[in-house]
Amino acid sequence: MPLTEYERYLRVPELLSLQKPEETRTHEDELLFQSVHQVEELWMKCADEEITKFVAQIDRDELEGARAALHRIYVFEKLMAEQMRLLETMAPLAYFSIRKGLGHGSGLESPGFNRLLRNSKKVVEAFERACERRKVTPEDLVRDPQKDRSMWAIAEAMLDIDDAFQNFRFRHLQLVKRIIGAGTPSLKGNPIELLENNAKKMFFPTIWRAREALFSDFAPGELKT
Ligand code: HEM
Repeated sequence: MPLTEYERYLRVPELLSLQKPEETRTHEDELLFQSVHQVEELWMKCADEEITKFVAQIDRDELEGARAALHRIYVFEKLMAEQMRLLETMAPLAYFSIRKGLGHGSGLESPGFNRLLRNSKKVVEAFERACERRKVTPEDLVRDPQKDRSMWAIAEAMLDIDDAFQNFRFRHLQLVKRIIGAGTPSLKGNPIELLENNAKKMFFPTIWRAREALFSDFAPGELKT
């Protein structure tokens, strides 16, 4: 049967040949395990393209387009965290079999993840360039969002991204605890603390810290009922 246009356009046969066939799987859940990782790599690839669009647009002062690119990254990240839940349906015993076929492979080697970590610096640099051009700082924006509403919206969208990425890391951490237990070292020999520490990292600490500047001026007042 010739391929339909749908199949040709989406390259469905190649796509569905990218998972191990049934006869070579170490466990029946290996299809789910591979598929979740592959889908996550695709979303990370898409998210990374949005970083490129963000930088180009904010550099041209097209702030609404830049904000929309950040929002899309946020939606990808939320999906990525939610999709981890699929692997929560896998018994530790299933992963015990699958893990035997992974060599010393590790999520630390994920190219999509590492590209996002690297390219988040480009977001910071482009945001800083825009702040300089428009003569605002993250602290100014927290103290008065009206000073530059568009930049305020960008800064808030950056926080959404940080929040969702930390959430993705946290969901992954919980998954790891659930499947292999907190005391089991990784295939690279690393303890769970590596993931716990990474889950606290932020891409945009200056925007988070700007809140502290505002509240450092705070003094409690009278109770008003
Ligand atoms: C059964 C499910 C999973 C287990 C048991 C697991 C286990 C682990 C462990 C133990 C690490 C620590 C790194 C090391 O020292 O090797 C790690 C890191 C990582 N894994 Fe997974 N993982 C699972 C699913 C996933 C999925 C679905 C993704 C999808 C993207 C993923 C992405 C990552 C990433 C990006 C890291 C680096 C995290 C960071 O630096 O914060 N993992 N994983």
